[in-house]
Formats: sequence, C-alpha cells, structure tokens
Amino acid sequence: AEATAQYDVVIIGGGPGGYNAAIRAGQLGLTVACVEKGDTLGGTCLNVGCMPSKALLHASELFEIANKEFGTLGIDVGTPKVNLPQMMKQKADSVGALTKGIEFLFKKNKAVWIKGKGKIAGAGKVEVTAADGTVTILTAKDIVIATGSEPTPLPGVDFVEGKIIDSTGALSLPAIPKKLIVIGAGVIGLELGSVWRRLGAEVTVVEFLDKVGAGMDAEVATAFQRGLTKQGMTFKMGTKVTSAKVAKDGVVLTLEPAAGGEVETLTGDVVLVAIGRRPYTAGLGLETVGIETDKRGFLNNDHLKTGAAGVWVIGDVTHGPMLAHKAEEEAVAVIEYIAGKAGHVDYDLVPSVIYTGPEVAWVGKTEEQLKAAGVEFKKGKFPFTANSRAKINHETEGFVKVLADATTDKVLGVHIYGPSAGEMIAEACIAMAFGGASEDIARTCHAHPTRSEAVKQAAMGVEGWTMQA
Ligand code: FAD
Ligand code: NAI
Repeated sequence: AEATAQYDVVIIGGGPGGYNAAIRAGQLGLTVACVEKGDTLGGTCLNVGCMPSKALLHASELFEIANKEFGTLGIDVGTPKVNLPQMMKQKADSVGALTKGIEFLFKKNKAVWIKGKGKIAGAGKVEVTAADGTVTILTAKDIVIATGSEPTPLPGVDFVEGKIIDSTGALSLPAIPKKLIVIGAGVIGLELGSVWRRLGAEVTVVEFLDKVGAGMDAEVATAFQRGLTKQGMTFKMGTKVTSAKVAKDGVVLTLEPAAGGEVETLTGDVVLVAIGRRPYTAGLGLETVGIETDKRGFLNNDHLKTGAAGVWVIGDVTHGPMLAHKAEEEAVAVIEYIAGKAGHVDYDLVPSVIYTGPEVAWVGKTEEQLKAAGVEFKKGKFPFTANSRAKINHETEGFVKVLADATTDKVLGVHIYGPSAGEMIAEACIAMAFGGASEDIARTCHAHPTRSEAVKQAAMGVEGWTMQA
C-alpha cells in the first residue's frame, strides 16, 4: 500500500507562488506540504527565470561598461574579455545558493517539501509520484495549485536544441552566437537579447506588433526601442515568422509582414523564441475535482478559489500578469484566506520592470489606457538629462512620467525609462497604495543627488512647477 500523510494544506508547485504560500502557511501554524517535481525548489523564477537572467544581465552590463565607459572614467584595464564558463558558473552558484535558501526557509517554518509530481486525486487528495516511481498519498483540507507556466511554442518553428531555443536554452548557451535572432520583442526577448548583444552577438528582434515591450506605455516604448537600437539591436517590427529550417550554416527563418505581403528570409546561428508563456497543468488531475482550464489554458479564480471546494489557485497558472511578485502576493493572500484571515491583492498596483540597460518600470495605467477609459488626466515628465546624479554617472537616457487625475490629482500611473527604474518604481507603488496625489510626491523631500529626484520633479511637473532647466 502507498504511504499516506495528512496536512492542513497541500501546495502543488514550488515556485514563487508555491514556496511563499508554504512559508506563510508554516508561519500561521498550519501543517503544510509543498509538492515539487524539480530537483530544487524555486520554480521557474529561481531556476530558469528571474534570477539566472538577472545574473547574466548584471555580468554582461558590467562587461559593456568596462568595454565602453571605463576609458572615459579614467580607468585603464586594457581590453576586457568574456570568460563565458566563469560567467555561467557564477550564475549557477548564485542560483544554487538561492534555491538552498528556500529549503532552509522551509525547514525554519516547518513546511515539508515532497519531491515528485503531484496529481489531484479527488477532493482533499493529492497523489505524488517520485522520480523512482514511489507513490505517496497526501490528504489535506485545502489544496493550492501553483504549477506555473512554460514557454509558448511557435507553430512552424519547432525547438531544436542549441539552434531554436526557449529562454531556458538562452540562459545557458555554450558559446556566444554570431547572429542571434529573437522572435518576440517582449520582456524575455529584450532582456536576453541585451545579454547576448552585450557579449558580442549581432541581435535581430522580429516582432509581430508595431510596438516593443508587450503592453507598456507607447511613449515609453518608442523611447525604449530607440535606445535599444542605438545600442546596436536591430528590429523587424510588424513582422511574423512563418517557418524555420535548420541548415548547415544556421537557421533560416521565413518572415512575412504581419498584414501579409512579400516573403523574405533571415538567417542566424541561434533563434530564441520568446512569444509569451502559457499556463502549465499537464497531468494535474483537474477532472477529478471537476474543474477545467479556460480556452487559453488558465484556471479561473474568484478571490483565488477555483470552482471546486477546497481547491485554490495562484501564480502564472491563473489570470493576471505572469510575474514572480504577483505570484508572491497571491501566495500570502491565499494562505490568509485559508486561515480565515483577510487576504488582499491589489492587481492595479503590480509593478512591471524590464531589466535592460537602462531599465523600464511602470505601475498603474498607461496614457493609452486612461484615454480609452475616458479619464481626464494631467501629465508631468522629467528627463534624466536634467537629473544631476544621472548626469554625473553618464546615464542620462530616459525620463520619468507621472499621470494624475485631472480633478483629484490622485496618481494613476508612473512610467520610468532610465537608470535604476526598477528600484525607483517602489516609491510610486507606495504613493499609489496610500491613494497619494502627485502633489504628495512633489512635496516629499527626496535626497540630493539621487535619480529618485526625477520622480519628484515629474510629479512637480504635474503641478506645473518643475525645476527643469
Ligand atoms: P513557477 O515559478 O513556474 O513554478 C511552478 C513550479 O511547479 C515549477 O517548479 C514546476 O516544476 C512545478 N510543478 C508544475 N506542475 C507540477 C506538478 N504536477 N507536480 C509538482 N510540481 C509541479 N518575473 C518577475 O517578476 N521578474 C523577473 O525578472 C522575471 N524574469 C523572468 C525571466 C525569465 C527568463 C522567465 C522565463 C520568467 C521570468 N519571470 C520574471 C516570470 C516568473 O518566473 C514567473 O512569473 C514565476 O516564476 C511564476 O511563479 P509560479 O510559482 O506561479 O510558477
Ligand atoms: P511577452 O508577452 O512579454 O512578449 C511576447 C512578445 O512576442 C510580444 O511583444 C508579442 O507581441 C510577440 N509575439 C507574439 N507572437 C508572436 C509571433 N508569432 N511572432 C512575433 N512576435 C510575436 O512574453 P515573453 O517575453 O515570452 O515573456 C513571458 C513572460 O515572462 C512575460 O509575460 C513576463 O510576465 C515574464 N517575464 C518577466 C520578466 C520581468 O519581469 N522582468 C522577465 C522575463 C519574463
């Protein structure tokens, strides 16, 4: 007979959704098991997502700075060279330390990692199959689905190891490609495209739409694309890829204007497909509790409840932005709901960050969204060319834009394209979470000289009294 174990909560998936839920459950005194089929905890984010990509972005950015800026700064180091195995090793070491850190937090909070693939086997029951085939039955009052997502494949462009790859492949290429073609000018394409361009690849990005950055404010998208182009990235916008062929001298893609028209080919040594991610529910046993995914594969939720009693869902596998910090907010909320407390996620205040150089970050509404909703708004904008810290650091690309309600002055959206945008967006999130007005930001003392003064100045711009030169 199979071994059985009983818990208050069983979580399926050990990514940012699952592991944060497990830790929160432990903190609230619930008995909790987290089923993860991977060799480590941390899910996509820690193993093949956020963290390894940021490790390579950081290293490649420093390489580029050493190459292009050290001379100007009066630092002579000769010609820097890439040591790719070492760059990959430090990435793997950091990732290893982070996933071990989650294991430590599990122990500290009495959350149990059950290794294996989890399958719901009816109400309150999860069947776990370990790598060696051993089956364990877990029973629980509440089950949380946190199985995440996987790369969306592109029809006609099948993955071929080392040649036609997804983000996981692009995080561990064995050599720097001469020509890298990226399909999709979204977050992954632009971050990982930047990594390999900085390390020496010629990068061409093919995008179906006319705008980069999947959903970002149009004015920011235009400036961002111009910035990336200046750095040497090439864009083929409004273009679709219809097929791929692996030949002796590389991968040959067939392209066509999105609206139809003349066909052309484009050859590269490596093609990165980054056209989005899709929810992952394979073999999950959803039918045993009578729930189904929607047409796009997502599980619907109402305050994180699925249609089945005692079955909850969080993270990439349900609706909302596919972001680690969104999964984390839902993780805390779902456990608080389960524990009978007041969980809460404010979906209007989930920030987005693209970790390119410089970064792009935003929270709240874009100008286009406000116009479409018929909301009257005021706009303040401040360029980093007029920010003293950015000027001193030779990083003046970009601007801050604050959008506020025309009548109440309540901040509705903040958009930053510039140095450390991802760090600075937090102050906009706080201001908006407190229902702040742009005048509140404008009248808050910011330290000088900091880049964050540009946020204050943009808010002052809404009031019409920016100090911009
Ligand atoms: P996941 O992290 O996907 O975790 C799901 C886990 O469930 C996996 O470990 C999987 O093995 C496991 N699992 C699935 N089914 C089963 C089963 N039946 N039994 C047992 N285990 C199962 N987001 C950000 O916010 N910032 C970033 O900088 C960022 N960078 C990214 C870079 C890349 C290259 C990629 C691909 C993604 C990035 N993301 C980033 C997105 C982020 O990784 C996801 O939003 C986040 O990981 C979602 O968390 P999750 O817990 O919902 O799912
Ligand atoms: P994405 O949704 O960000 O971008 C996909 C892009 O591909 C879009 O611009 C889309 O128009 C384009 N596209 C779609 N089909 C196409 C086709 N057939 N041909 C050409 N272009 C096509 O998705 P991406 O970059 O794959 O990332 C997946 C998810 O991972 C993101 O939604 C994001 O939530 C998460 N992520 C977050 C990061 C961060 O927060 N910094 C970093 C990396 C990923």
